[in-house]
Amino acid sequence: MTHPTNNALGLPPASAAPNPKRWLVQVCQHRTCLGNRSDEVLAAFQQHQSEHILVAESECLGQCSAGPTVRVLPDDIWYCQLSPADVPSIVEQHLGQGQPVKERLHPRFHPPACP
Ligand code: FES
Repeated sequence: MTHPTNNALGLPPASAAPNPKRWLVQVCQHRTCLGNRSDEVLAAFQQHQSEHILVAESECLGQCSAGPTVRVLPDDIWYCQLSPADVPSIVEQHLGQGQPVKERLHPRFHPPACP
């Protein structure tokens, strides 16, 4: 199957790239995020660890005022002000289907689209 190209290298557009097989979920466990219960967010993600999802504690990610902060690699997606209740939708939509959960994205890294 061929994809329309959008660059000089002839690579497929990002939306057509296959969903990565392995994810790294970094959950900040530093002072400010921890004060906002990032330990509970970490525990919620750890319940979904698998050969495709690696969950790791992180030092301060530099976004303390918007914690708990979570960064998802390899696509470098940032989430802010997460609670354990947000984790199932992130696991299902983002890590399962490759579609980040827009409602929880960190606006500093992912500004909302203009109306
Ligand atoms: S304490 Fe979590 S981002 Fe700084």
